[in-house]
Amino acid sequence: MSKFWRVIHVPVYFPTRKAAPVVVLIALILAGALFQYFPRHTVISPQTLDQDLSLSVAEKPSNAQLADKTLNARVEKLLGSMTLEQKIGQLTQYTAGEWTGPEGNTLDYDAMIERGEIGSLFNVVGAYSTNRYQHLAVEKSPLHIPLLFGYDVIHGEHTVFPVPLALSSSFDPDLIRQVAHVAAQEASADGIRWVFSPMVDIARDARWGRITEGAGEDPYLGSILAQAYIEGYQGNDLSQPDAVAACVKHFAAYGAANGGREYNTVDMSELTLRQDYLPPYHVGVAAGAATVMSAFNPLNGVPATANPFTLTEILRHEWKFDGMVVSDYGAVRELMNHGIASNGSVAARKALLAGVDMDMQSDLYRTRLADLVQTGQVPQAALDEAVRRVLRVKFALGLFDHPYTEEKKGTNVITSERRELALKAAEETLVLLKNDVAVPDTTPVLPLAKNVPSIALIGPLADSPIDMLGSWPAKGRMSDVVTLRAALQNRFKDGKTKVLYAKGTSILSDSNAGFAQAIAAAQQASVVILALGESAATMTGESSSRTRLDLPGNQEQLLEAITALGKPTVLVLFDGRPLALKWAAVHVPAILEAWYPGIEAGTAVTDVLFGDVNPSGKLTVSFPRAVGQEPLFYSQLPTGRPADQIDLTQPPTSTSKYFSRYIDETNAPLFPFGFGLSYTRFTYTNLKLGPSSLSLAKLQADKGGIFASPPAVHVRVTVKNTGPVPGVEIAQLYLRNTGGSIEEPVRELKGFQRLSLNPGESKQIEFTLGFSELSYYNLDMKRVIEPTQYHVWAGGSSGAALEAAFEVKP
Ligand code: NOJ
Repeated sequence: MSKFWRVIHVPVYFPTRKAAPVVVLIALILAGALFQYFPRHTVISPQTLDQDLSLSVAEKPSNAQLADKTLNARVEKLLGSMTLEQKIGQLTQYTAGEWTGPEGNTLDYDAMIERGEIGSLFNVVGAYSTNRYQHLAVEKSPLHIPLLFGYDVIHGEHTVFPVPLALSSSFDPDLIRQVAHVAAQEASADGIRWVFSPMVDIARDARWGRITEGAGEDPYLGSILAQAYIEGYQGNDLSQPDAVAACVKHFAAYGAANGGREYNTVDMSELTLRQDYLPPYHVGVAAGAATVMSAFNPLNGVPATANPFTLTEILRHEWKFDGMVVSDYGAVRELMNHGIASNGSVAARKALLAGVDMDMQSDLYRTRLADLVQTGQVPQAALDEAVRRVLRVKFALGLFDHPYTEEKKGTNVITSERRELALKAAEETLVLLKNDVAVPDTTPVLPLAKNVPSIALIGPLADSPIDMLGSWPAKGRMSDVVTLRAALQNRFKDGKTKVLYAKGTSILSDSNAGFAQAIAAAQQASVVILALGESAATMTGESSSRTRLDLPGNQEQLLEAITALGKPTVLVLFDGRPLALKWAAVHVPAILEAWYPGIEAGTAVTDVLFGDVNPSGKLTVSFPRAVGQEPLFYSQLPTGRPADQIDLTQPPTSTSKYFSRYIDETNAPLFPFGFGLSYTRFTYTNLKLGPSSLSLAKLQADKGGIFASPPAVHVRVTVKNTGPVPGVEIAQLYLRNTGGSIEEPVRELKGFQRLSLNPGESKQIEFTLGFSELSYYNLDMKRVIEPTQYHVWAGGSSGAALEAAFEVKP
């Protein structure tokens, strides 16, 4: 056997090799889920390799702690002692702080808790505040059942890290695990043992404001990062005081809202649902997530919050989810708006019977369930099952044994280690989109010279701490944020470089009054940094869909006026979505996508601008040229009339008309998925794979246990740093199947690795492809492999050019 075949490759999405046995177990369970998804296609012939993984996955609990016998004995004992009202209380949740939805209420929570009518509160934060309610529950309620406190800790609690879309640009599951762990430590110190995160909705439409909350457009990357969040939040043991229950949301397919309009309808084939949208939820469940949140949207005609197909058939029967399902905010009540419930009782019945265990904020379980159970419209067994699921999570978190949070000073202080992690995270998430030479210079604009005489810093995002915290800033404080202006001033406090600051305009303004001052500053400076973008709070996140993807207000005008001065100019974008910046991509010499980087925003951006850190982030969402291209994503299905052989920059002629194209724009994104520049260059050579021919029978024989599917194909490629400085490259592997019975995307990510290379250094890396990467769903909704041909590409983006192929023979 050649050396090549002896290489043992640990896929990048597995926990580190040093991982403890429990982590390995979780990884194995997860592998089953990845396995089930990251393959694709159909089929019909007896030669098809047909492996229904859901059955095998079903033999294992989704979370061993929740399935534990002793724990469940405690649950049963308690359940046996509960009245109907006390049971319903456990299924009831309210906001006890700010409203994160359209309506709140004026209920007397203290009295209700004392009567055992509330199981969970959210938006109440801090040891003192949560303890106050907890004392009422534990000391005064009839059965002393502790409350579970939830909160939207989405990218940090006090130490605010980059928004999730930014974090995904790192392609770094280890980083995300660490970030989630710190968030868990800080949240639990605040009395929060349940975070409404991760949002794992695949999002392919930049108009949707919540694209900022997830990992972007790709199910493979999204799944790997979903696992990392859950491991970071929950650790190996939910009962540890600094572990929090994760909440995989929003189940299901919320990210595919029609027209990118928030809360809108989702309609898609089951094939697309299973192949592209469900994988991150399933991997999250298989990684042990204790809870799932049902989504607002209807899915194929049935609201997700009353959808038995997704909530029971898939989540409970196929995936064997042991945890609890909470509705989204008021989503049970909204079943009436959807027109599937004529009154609150019908809404409560439909939600509970579909599989929603806890009612967030609708106040319908509390007010309607007793009657529904007493009149037999909701079976007692269904109610009991929902209560069991809630109690299991409370027991697993150790709340019965340790209901209170230590009230000590200083828990909100951001330690230097956490600040360092916030800085590392921000640095890894910045994506360099363009870096040209600004004539008459001979080198690219970035990195800027460390002794540059003067800098003009212009724009409404240059000194806006609130925006750096992104949407869902949790308990992040503006005073903890280092803005770009502050970082530059700090960097040049010796005065050797002059920093000229001019805001220029506001984020959303039509007044050009500040332009003159900004232009004057730019004229005096040797380089210009423009900090432009969106308002984090009002333009990104929940209920922030946009019909335009340009720079809001008159920022584009400001950009064009400043760029026209011909100075070496860098556009730094602070935003929560891909913007359509066609003019900037042509005319501005350098563009850095910074997203909302969190508390260390300014330091991270300046570190990259001045070359202390070489940018390494890669896009996890496609950047459009025009809003009309949305939804835009790289893993499109092929058409019968692909336009790749014609000049799309020209309007159609008689010979280029009948193709899948726009008449007024090219099909290609402005910047593709996986793309991101560096201050060095990476070249890919010597792509080899083997074997080039596989037999289906052999695959069948080798399939082994579902968690031990051996790698069937090894792909090796050499990556070399051919530029001047050390750098980190995110090497990517893409796959296409061209012979199956189901259409498969023109390319799909099937592997990635982060590697550090010094100038001149090269490394040969290996990816492996097994059943999980090669199989796909057929029309019977089973994962299969067929006799077919696969193409693979390796490179630094979804446009990778180095290609090889192999076939699967009957
Ligand atoms: C509504 C949002 O959709 C969800 O993500 C969030 O967790 C809840 N509100 C609670 O604030």
